[in-house]
Amino acid sequence: MPTNLAAMLRTCLLLLLCIAGSRQLSITEFAVPSAVEAGRNAELQCHTESERVEYVKWWWTPLYVPLDDRDKIQLYQRMPGQPAELLVKNVEIKENDTIVLLNLKSTDSGIYECEVSVAGATEEARKHQDLIVFSNGTDLQLNVSKIEDGPDEDEDEDVLVLCEAHDVTPQPELSIFVNGEEVANVTQYVSGGEHGLYDVYVNATLSDDDAEDAEIRCELFFENRNISHPPYEEKIIYTTGAARSTTEAPEETTLSEMASELQNNGVDGLRACLWILNIAAIVQLYSYSVLNS
Ligand SMILES: *[C@@H]1O[C@H](CO)[C@@H](O)[C@H](O)[C@H]1NC(C)=O
Ligand SMILES: *[C@@H]1O[C@H](CO)[C@@H](O)[C@H](O)[C@H]1NC(C)=O
Ligand SMILES: *[C@@H]1O[C@H](CO)[C@@H](O)[C@H](O)[C@H]1NC(C)=O
Ligand SMILES: *[C@@H]1O[C@H](CO)[C@@H](O)[C@H](O)[C@H]1NC(C)=O
Ligand SMILES: *[C@@H]1O[C@H](CO)[C@@H](O)[C@H](O)[C@H]1NC(C)=O
Ligand SMILES: *[C@@H]1O[C@H](CO)[C@@H](O)[C@H](O)[C@H]1NC(C)=O
Repeated sequence: MPTNLAAMLRTCLLLLLCIAGSRQLSITEFAVPSAVEAGRNAELQCHTESERVEYVKWWWTPLYVPLDDRDKIQLYQRMPGQPAELLVKNVEIKENDTIVLLNLKSTDSGIYECEVSVAGATEEARKHQDLIVFSNGTDLQLNVSKIEDGPDEDEDEDVLVLCEAHDVTPQPELSIFVNGEEVANVTQYVSGGEHGLYDVYVNATLSDDDAEDAEIRCELFFENRNISHPPYEEKIIYTTGAARSTTEAPEETTLSEMASELQNNGVDGLRACLWILNIAAIVQLYSYSVLNS
């Protein structure tokens, strides 16, 4: 009868699911954070309520090693009647087969797996999760400077924005914002990658008009969406005046700067002032005589 057949199939299916499920059921709680900032600790949980545990093991497959050398490394083991034991440094044991990875570094990124063997089960129960250690590396640097006129429409000097960071993990990206708006045309270089550490560099050319008195911000973030940390940022307010004082030659100092210099220098300043007035008089006399000849 077709209804009987359907019922039988359903029972079979349920039975298969039960067998598959019972293996997994040996692990009642499993938790590994998917992203942790470098320098922090991470708690890894693998709880079993089975009374017939033969062993519980934690394994780690490092991410930043060549594929050929990517072996599973055992971190932890507990067997009935024996104290739980650690097989590596920088890890602590807590209750119920929970372990704590201490002071994480980029090289600790990888797959963390818990394995539980229960007497009578046909197979070990296993659960695993990727853990990525992230870091903004050494200081994020943002520099803004004036450069010669580039390929934009005006004839004014342009403004070069440079931003870089070193020893960032995992692979980062940089963006530049001017008054909150992202600059579309940037050039970006990423290098490194050894031990998961990257150097990243970005530049953009702005027109003088766009940059003047603008807030210029550099953001560092990760392509990996599991890293929910907000972007790291560095920002400055760019003022043309500040840039001018470092790039222009001393003879172009403004009158007010000269006045304050005179104030600071007292009598010497007064002498300099008289000297400048002298020169001015000579120049005037000279131009007068040129015009009249
Ligand atoms: C360990 O597991 C037992 C039994 O499930 C539970 O009562 C106890 O609270 C757990 N300990 C910790 C620290 O979670
Ligand atoms: C930014 O300026 C600092 C100090 O002037 C300098 O050490 C650094 O190399 C500069 N960085 C870039 C990206 O030019
Ligand atoms: C982007 O910048 C490059 C180099 O500065 C320039 O050659 C190119 O024309 C720019 N593209 C746009 C769309 O502005
Ligand atoms: C970034 O710098 C490179 C090399 O100095 C230059 O060729 C390129 O035009 C710059 N890109 C932008 C967008 O300014
Ligand atoms: C993010 O985490 C999920 C769940 O752990 C995982 O399946 C996925 O592969 C992760 N994505 C990346 C880019 O690592
Ligand atoms: C980089 O990360 C460290 C640690 O979280 C933080 O103290 C520092 O402010 C960050 N730097 C930037 C530029 O956000």
